[in-house]
Amino acid sequence: MKSVDMINQITKPKERFIKEYVCPDCNMTVTQKELVIPMGPRKGETVVANYGCVCADIKLAEEAKKQRKQLQNDKMKQLFDYYSLLNGALQEATLENYEPTSKELAKAKRDIESYIDNFDGKENLLLHGGYGTGKSHLSVAVTKKLMEQGKECLFLSLPKLLTKIKETYNNKGVTEDELLEVIKRVDLLVLDDLGAEHNTDWAISKVFEILDDRSGKATIYTTNLNSEQLRERFNERNFSRLLENTKVIVMNGEDYRRKVKF
Ligand SMILES: Nc1ncnc2c1ncn2[C@@H]1O[C@H](COP(=O)(O)OP(=O)(O)OP(=O)(O)O)[C@@H](O)[C@H]1O
Ligand SMILES: [Mg+2]
Ligand SMILES: [Zn+2]
Repeated sequence: MKSVDMINQITKPKERFIKEYVCPDCNMTVTQKELVIPMGPRKGETVVANYGCVCADIKLAEEAKKQRKQLQNDKMKQLFDYYSLLNGALQEATLENYEPTSKELAKAKRDIESYIDNFDGKENLLLHGGYGTGKSHLSVAVTKKLMEQGKECLFLSLPKLLTKIKETYNNKGVTEDELLEVIKRVDLLVLDDLGAEHNTDWAISKVFEILDDRSGKATIYTTNLNSEQLRERFNERNFSRLLENTKVIVMNGEDYRRKVKF
């Protein structure tokens, strides 16, 4: 018995009860004690210890969660950067830096915002209008917002895609099968510039292979073609597939690219 007391004396610090309280942050009942450090370089020093408070644990868990989310975001971004086909100017496009130049375009921006807020993974958008009104810009902006929410997105310029499918994709050794897998899988696909591709049977059939793969999943289309032209180009059956569960947003206005005066 005596020897056990000795050991306790050596290893257990002397402690004095100070108070008990409920931690306002973690709501746990906390016992506060004063301890005298029994050994080591800080021997004899008194410290206050809070037993029962789990604030530090919560903070750690939150840190870990944040890190996981960051990692997930990085993964989304990597997939997007690796597979997407968009030109340099559009890389900077965000919702915040889109400045509508007309009431119609302001309405388009609001519609896009509400699409993001109510994203259900199913509804499609068809952005239709003249050149340079920000159809591609706003589509990129959607992908950025949704990726922040952990959604996988892909932006494909259709004309570029069809050219690239024939070549080695991106020069990164991506195969057509792999690409179609990604197209099938992502939460949101932007199919940019519908109707600007070469009008061949092969192109049309590829487009509808893609639409088929995306059936039931959200896709944003952008196009300069009106509904008559789309119907003519993609035939009746495919045209109706295109408009299935699709909200049309009309975006006419001045060509933003021409705003640069010279
Ligand atoms: N309202 C705007 N505010 C800020 N930048 C804009 C706006 N509209 C367009 N831009 C910029 O102008 C360029 C052209 O816009 P964008 O490519 O989105 O047009 P588009 O409607 O897709 O045209 P197209 O039909 O020719 O494909 C992009 O670099 C885009 O970022
Ligand atoms: Mg465009
Ligand atoms: Zn606490």
